[in-house]
Amino acid sequence: MIYHIKVPATSANIGPGFDSIGIAWNLYLHIHVKAEPQKDDINIVNKNKINNDLFIKAFYETINYINKKPSNYTIELWSEIPIGKGLGSSASAIVGGIYTAEIITNTYLTLYDKLNIALKFENHLDNISAAINGGINICLKNEKEIYITKLPINYDFWGLLYIPDYYLSTQEARNILPQNYKREDVVFNLQKFGMLISGLLQKDENLVKMGLDDKIHQPYRFKLIKEYPLLSKEVEKYGKKIVLSGAGPSLLILLFNEQEALEILKKLENNLKEAIKGEFKLLKIEHNGITIEKFN
Ligand code: HSE
Repeated sequence: MIYHIKVPATSANIGPGFDSIGIAWNLYLHIHVKAEPQKDDINIVNKNKINNDLFIKAFYETINYINKKPSNYTIELWSEIPIGKGLGSSASAIVGGIYTAEIITNTYLTLYDKLNIALKFENHLDNISAAINGGINICLKNEKEIYITKLPINYDFWGLLYIPDYYLSTQEARNILPQNYKREDVVFNLQKFGMLISGLLQKDENLVKMGLDDKIHQPYRFKLIKEYPLLSKEVEKYGKKIVLSGAGPSLLILLFNEQEALEILKKLENNLKEAIKGEFKLLKIEHNGITIEKFN
């Protein structure tokens, strides 16, 4: 028996939605699971450089939680998601590890069980929720509650990403944030986040654009991304705004028309190729979260 599991890349935050929202993209971690009755162990093979470590930890944590000896399998992993670039490579590995353990032990865990296991490895549900559900998700985690909910959005839109040629650790990008905020900054973000969600639900590009500003994390984090000033100035010429993808360093432009997205991609590549390193990548929303195909 063979399973092919795909977990999408994700962008968290999207401007004002710090630690609260995630979008899934059509870029994937692939997990190929093959039953090997003649072997006597589980063999995990890393086909390219991915967050193998996190996958293995989440996988065995789930196996221990299930407390059932699995049969023997070869598990091959390969990923299209760049590591340390703010595209949810860790979340994809954690989610992939948990679901793979569930499949090979033939066990059903509740979503709540899975979220609790995932939270042992990554304290932010924004990427995790989008990797599980696909589309756009809002997440909630406080002392009393854990919840994720997917927005009812069925149209396509695109994410034009600038992916720098260096890494940024989420921890570093969190350490520079203040412990406290002024009330007017919090209100600013609440209002912007409301506009963003309303705009996304109505497919109203102007409302989305109005809702992309943030005073909670981006003003601090943009300072870590040296290409930001140049890129944001260029993108302003096309009437667009840039947000961080997760904690960065990747930068994201949301676009609602494929033709326009392709044109802006071409302009950015032509106009900035001498000035900045790294790559531009055009991704499309992935409406499905983790998918599992079974072959006999
Ligand atoms: N919401 C997280 C952050 C995303 O901005 O730090 C990274 O997991």
